[in-house]
Amino acid sequence: MKSDTAMLSLRGGADLPTPGAQSATTGWLPGVTSICYGGDYNPEQWPEEVWEQDVALMSEAGVNLVSIGIFAWGLLEPREGEFDFVWLDRLFALLHSAGIRIDLGTPTASPPAWFFHSYPDARVVTREGTVLGFGSRGMASPSSADYRRLSTRIARELARRYGRHPALAMWHVHNEYGAPVSECYSAASSAAFRTWLRARYGTLDVLNAAWGTAFWGQTYGSWEHISAPSATPSVINPTQRLDFSRYTSDALLACFVAERDAIRAESPGIPVTTNFMAGACPSVDLWRWAREVDIVSNDHYLTAADRRGHVGLAMAADLTRSVAGGRPWILMEHSTSGVNWQPRNVAKRAGEMRRNALSHLGRGADAIMFFQWRASRSGAEKFHSAMVPHAGTTSRIWTEVRELGAELGQLAEVLGSTVTADVAVLWDWESFWAQDQEWRPSEDLSHRERVAAFYDRLWRDGLTVDFAHPEADLSAYRLVVAPAAYLVTARAAENLRRYVEGGGTLVVSYFAGIVDENDAVHDGGFGAPLREVLGLTVEEFLPLRDGEQVHLDLPGMVGDVWTDDIVLHGAQVVARYVDGPAAGQPAITRNGLGAGSAWYVSTRLDVDGLAVLLGSAYQDAGLEPSRLPAELEVVRRHGEHADYVVAVNHGDDAAVLLQAGVDLRTGRERPEHEVPAGAPSCSAPRAPRRPRLRRRPRTRRSPGRAGSSR
Ligand code: GLA
Repeated sequence: MKSDTAMLSLRGGADLPTPGAQSATTGWLPGVTSICYGGDYNPEQWPEEVWEQDVALMSEAGVNLVSIGIFAWGLLEPREGEFDFVWLDRLFALLHSAGIRIDLGTPTASPPAWFFHSYPDARVVTREGTVLGFGSRGMASPSSADYRRLSTRIARELARRYGRHPALAMWHVHNEYGAPVSECYSAASSAAFRTWLRARYGTLDVLNAAWGTAFWGQTYGSWEHISAPSATPSVINPTQRLDFSRYTSDALLACFVAERDAIRAESPGIPVTTNFMAGACPSVDLWRWAREVDIVSNDHYLTAADRRGHVGLAMAADLTRSVAGGRPWILMEHSTSGVNWQPRNVAKRAGEMRRNALSHLGRGADAIMFFQWRASRSGAEKFHSAMVPHAGTTSRIWTEVRELGAELGQLAEVLGSTVTADVAVLWDWESFWAQDQEWRPSEDLSHRERVAAFYDRLWRDGLTVDFAHPEADLSAYRLVVAPAAYLVTARAAENLRRYVEGGGTLVVSYFAGIVDENDAVHDGGFGAPLREVLGLTVEEFLPLRDGEQVHLDLPGMVGDVWTDDIVLHGAQVVARYVDGPAAGQPAITRNGLGAGSAWYVSTRLDVDGLAVLLGSAYQDAGLEPSRLPAELEVVRRHGEHADYVVAVNHGDDAAVLLQAGVDLRTGRERPEHEVPAGAPSCSAPRAPRRPRLRRRPRTRRSPGRAGSSR
């Protein structure tokens, strides 16, 4: 089997194990029985004759779902309280006649000019006090009562009119909550923040204690004296700032919930979603948000500067699946080629869009959608790629869009199958909000960098990863990795202890277990809550100078950024520092506890160093790296009657998957499957669970051939 695109999925026999797999499409779009394909559709930017062409082209491309109305508030309510749905009625009728289902947006990410004119206090105020004006798009203040009232009203009006329309498949509330701005420092925000604080703390005494206001004489004697943490002469109280991050996530969520509830009352049985930016938007806590949506959906854009952006894509997809609780999710937006908002908007080369789409699908997406259907001629996004590019239907992009639509049409049986993982990486927005503040021990501490580095290592080792909150049930995982666990509650620490005692393997990276939920250093010192599980505490941080390296007494192992002065309480030393401020002291430790073990690493290891560390932890966990050829991504989805293997080759060499199964695109059963360089493949295998692979001899690719990302 040869292919010049990038995914392989294999249909497997019923005898295959399906550990923990959920059966189903419960909670999926009503009446949708195939993978969804389409994108944001903004026909209000075009004369209506173009709509007819659009719908014909959508049918040609296999588009079965479009998101409409996302930025159309100004057209739908041209004056306050006056609604004009005539054009949207026509659009509904047109799409319905072509059998294209509708994901109806509420336009509340882009309030009209009249709104900001009538309600200037609803404008977002930055931390420095700048009031953000109209003429772009973006959220009004989430704390504005007027915004809440009018955004809920337009959502309700839309739901009354279209909530029972047969073409309606889903509601798309707002757009990317938290972007382009999330925090607002207006007077209304301060008032709402105070209400939130009263609910959290009850009394000022409790708040003063939690915020540690005795420091720098910040004690509050009246609730009225508390405000949003606007710019201050020196560093702001870090707990006030952390609480404001919590408040902001909750305030945005309250906006979503208000719209959702107005919709639900008028549109029974139709799922409501909002498009997340898992991993890319730090200001909303998706563990909390995911409980409030009917289906999780996510937007993802490659970081063009990163030649291995497909690993970042995989991480975002795994995080999305994890916040979705393992259920299938919607890729609401990605791009057919370059975007328009990065410093250098590198175009995707032939085959890359397909590889991206199928990586998302392999990691649990049951809908593959784009921003946007037709490229805009005007406005800020005219240089963004689209399904119908400015070059039209003779273009390479259009050809690939049609081919992808046809391919997804052949993968309907994958719908509802799920992904299971042996490894969990801990992910906690609250901890990240706390860690990212000023005046930390080193500006080189980056939670994002550490999580990405550990994830990259696990990706290279072919291990499928879930993300998990530190207080979540971890018992299903053989290995739990904590690359950036700065804030650890007593409950989380107890959870990790129980996990290890019960037989789990835990790997903890430096600057962990430092503070509690109030960003106060744990009583007992650095790492105190993890003392029993790790068998150590940290007496003193020993951060390194810019560019300084330290050597470990294991061949080739080098660290930078950080070292610790460790006090052992039972852990065994696996590696020591040869030089640097911690020379002679432990660098890597292992602590046996109950039936499990916990590892600690006190310096920043690169991806090769992490191979050594994790290689040992894998042995404890009974895991084996897959030893796949470099840049070959293989993920398995478990269905009710079959398993599906999605293999995406991001590399320069073809690989052969030694896995018998049915190629879902050809329907042919094969004893093995070639995954050409830069190509994916999708098939259903006949046992065994983990496919074996062999490397193909390197061949020269002719210029212009379906590209890899390298
Ligand atoms: C975001 C938005 C879209 C569009 C794209 C461009 O994801 O939701 O409206 O601006 O970015 O990449």
